[in-house]
Amino acid sequence: MKLTFLIVLIGVYACSAQDSSTTPSPSYTDRRCGEDLGNLWLDVVAVVDNSIGMTNGGLTSIAANIASVVSSGTRIGTNPSEPRTTRLGLVTYNKAAAIQADLNQYQSLDDVYDNVFRALSSVSTSEESYLANGLARAEDVLEAGKQGYNRTHYQRVVIVYASAYKGSGALDPVPVAERLKTSGVTVITVAYDQDGDGALLADLAKIASPPYNFTNTEDNGQVIGEIQDALLQVNCFCRNSWIQYRVSYTDVHSYRYGVCILPVGFNAVWRAAKSSCMNRNAYLVTEFDSNKHDYVLTAVSNYTGFSVPLTYHNGLSMVKGVWVWDQPQGMPQPQLQSYAGWNPGYPISDSTLTGVLNQQSSVQLQSGWQNIKPLTTGANYVCETASCDTDNYCTEAGLAEISVKH
Ligand SMILES: *[C@@H]1O[C@H](CO)[C@@H](O)[C@H](O)[C@H]1NC(C)=O
Ligand SMILES: *[C@@H]1O[C@H](CO)[C@@H](O)[C@H](O)[C@H]1NC(C)=O
Ligand SMILES: *[C@@H]1O[C@H](CO)[C@@H](O)[C@H](O)[C@H]1NC(C)=O
Repeated sequence: MKLTFLIVLIGVYACSAQDSSTTPSPSYTDRRCGEDLGNLWLDVVAVVDNSIGMTNGGLTSIAANIASVVSSGTRIGTNPSEPRTTRLGLVTYNKAAAIQADLNQYQSLDDVYDNVFRALSSVSTSEESYLANGLARAEDVLEAGKQGYNRTHYQRVVIVYASAYKGSGALDPVPVAERLKTSGVTVITVAYDQDGDGALLADLAKIASPPYNFTNTEDNGQVIGEIQDALLQVNCFCRNSWIQYRVSYTDVHSYRYGVCILPVGFNAVWRAAKSSCMNRNAYLVTEFDSNKHDYVLTAVSNYTGFSVPLTYHNGLSMVKGVWVWDQPQGMPQPQLQSYAGWNPGYPISDSTLTGVLNQQSSVQLQSGWQNIKPLTTGANYVCETASCDTDNYCTEAGLAEISVKH
């Protein structure tokens, strides 16, 4: 746990260190997800259509695509001393499907190059292409991969490379794709639209986890980048019962920030709420802009222990005469900048009112900040912490919500 916390600090530090080249003060934007492909930690299965329609050229291009996606330093396989590794399995399908590599076979980038190009050297003799069969084998590979390596907390991904979309009834790929997605697997699709009529793209969109339905263009480099960005987003997630901050609360597929929030439906004074968050390896929530404020409010409105008019402590407090935001222990606290969500009449100028809560008005349900006495005014509160991602490895035990007394 200590180690995990240290990594959180390093992650956050790395973030603000990057920004410090442009601004001297601590970063005033919400943390982005880790973007270090060298530290990707995922379980991925590539599912490749090798029916005649794909053509040999198409297959070679897919082999290059798969190898390139993990060529930016991603550690392949398993390593007892380094948990940030990515396992890569390979399934091919035409009329039937075959497992070319389970999740434990490739243990280096060389293994990937040698074996993926060999397995995808030429198309099969089958003109038929049943994605349902390929997805079912991928499901088997992911299931078998749960054994032995303590990786059940790794995010799982299937990347489909398809030149055709066929199948109805028992060979309809949609139910298998739904089953995968329901069990938490992200499905990325890449269309090799040999006919160019667009029908394949529309069909694959039914299989993919939005917005990860891609198409290979003349520029293979573009789709490689799109897949890498998707993998980084999938690798960015929150501990159990925490809510990830995204661009949009209602669009669950919008960009995820490397920030997780936890509404706590127990009454506490501001100072106790701050300590309670600290005990969770967290701090009181920041509201750097109106989007974040609205997001937190919406998340809170649907949470046990909160009711209208919504009231919760945030991380703003007066320290040495300036308003600053709570941060992980030991980190510099950024001063309040342009966006200030004070309710009319606030802040009240009074040296004892140094804590801040969000107070929704009972009439218009608008919500804004009010300064309060940090040791006497009780309210629910919202904690914030960094996500698990490539800059911040989370152990299986660390993913469980840490139980702390309120
Ligand atoms: C999985 O975790 C258990 C308990 O921590 C440990 O004893 C075992 O060696 C681990 N297995 C592998 C393959 O790392
Ligand atoms: C992905 O799916 C969406 C929604 O169906 C669609 O609007 C978009 O054009 C698709 N993208 C590609 C590359 O096919
Ligand atoms: C509210 O919470 C319930 C149960 O956790 C969830 O199913 C539902 O989608 C949430 N609604 C919104 C708008 O987030």
